[in-house]
Amino acid sequence: MIQVTNLSCGIASSPILKGIAASIPAGRVTALIGPNGAGKSTLLKLIAQQLTANSGSITLDGVEVSEIGARKLAQKMAVVAQHLTVASRVRVQDLIGFGRWPHSQGRLTAEDRAAIDDAIARFGLSALRQRFLDELSGGQRQRAFIAMAFAQDTDWLLLDEPLNNLDLHHARNLMSRLRSLAEDRGKSIVIVVHDLNYAISWSDHVVALKDGQVAFQGPVAETATAANLTDLYETPVAITQSDGRPFAQYHR
Ligand SMILES: Nc1ncnc2c1ncn2[C@@H]1O[C@H](COP(=O)(O)OP(=O)(O)OP(=O)(O)O)[C@@H](O)[C@H]1O
Ligand SMILES: [Mg+2]
Repeated sequence: MIQVTNLSCGIASSPILKGIAASIPAGRVTALIGPNGAGKSTLLKLIAQQLTANSGSITLDGVEVSEIGARKLAQKMAVVAQHLTVASRVRVQDLIGFGRWPHSQGRLTAEDRAAIDDAIARFGLSALRQRFLDELSGGQRQRAFIAMAFAQDTDWLLLDEPLNNLDLHHARNLMSRLRSLAEDRGKSIVIVVHDLNYAISWSDHVVALKDGQVAFQGPVAETATAANLTDLYETPVAITQSDGRPFAQYHR
């Protein structure tokens, strides 16, 4: 479990996150939702130790993440950022190989190579494995980064807007794969997502941020109500049921 307590973060004199208290359960898919600028990416970066908070605490299974150490943390947690940057003359298979770094430290074993091949196959990148990243489409590049995080084979997977750029086939495949990672292999998944239906139909748990604070959080069935979502986005949202799952309507 990730436990965030009284977490505040600001840049210069302006606060970004103000006294966040949130629990993210292990073995579940958690959607981190909220309007643009709410602080979702900032919270993810703080959890992943890519940013330092001004105050507060973040623990992973009871241990402060700041005390875990970079290599150990990378063995426990893989992160895909919202804005992906990497030297463009890197081949897909080498990028995915970087995901094995916390395990192999650069000397790939047979197990590492098997993990790389598996990630390439799972994310439909076989035909592209020799390509350079700057020779890929936006969605293909996005999938290559997610495959790298997958190859890292961590208990926790934190993905900031992983559905960006993905067509509906690849978006659905990714969500279904994330669900089975949680259900079948006990992995813990956190995704930042703007598509409400992926948030409420495919996730177990939700943490909603607004203006740097937690607006609501908890199991989807209890918290993703029409009233909460309408307030969160200041946009009328209706919740109906489709095949026994909640379905958000916000186009009217
Ligand atoms: N490096 C920075 N310097 C100053 N302000 C920043 C910086 N990074 C983020 N912010 C501000 O912090 C707030 C939260 O940003 P953040 O990227 O966490 O939002 P978000 O919820 O991920 O939004 P989006 O849905 O648009 O990705 C925003 O107001 C943003 O302008
Ligand atoms: Mg963001």
